[in-house]
Amino acid sequence: MNPLPVDVEAGKTYWWCRCGLAAQQPFCDGSHKGGDSSPLKFTPVHGGRIWLCACKRTATPPYCDGSHAREAAGLADAAPRTK
Ligand code: FES
Repeated sequence: MNPLPVDVEAGKTYWWCRCGLAAQQPFCDGSHKGGDSSPLKFTPVHGGRIWLCACKRTATPPYCDGSHAREAAGLADAAPRTK
């Protein structure tokens, strides 16, 4: 799953969905409740367009690190690592 571009405001708090269940990715909508995952709170220092991870495999959450491309190429295992 490719990263999602979002426009953010500097200093505003956002909650990135870590579980992948939110209907409006990449942000948490509470769908994780009852599971073993929780959202990641982040506050961008700079405003503007950023690319947030949608595959939930990034090593630098909530930001894309290219893991989706490695997964598509069969170079990564399929389990999410951002719990
Ligand atoms: S819905 Fe995924 S972390 Fe909240």
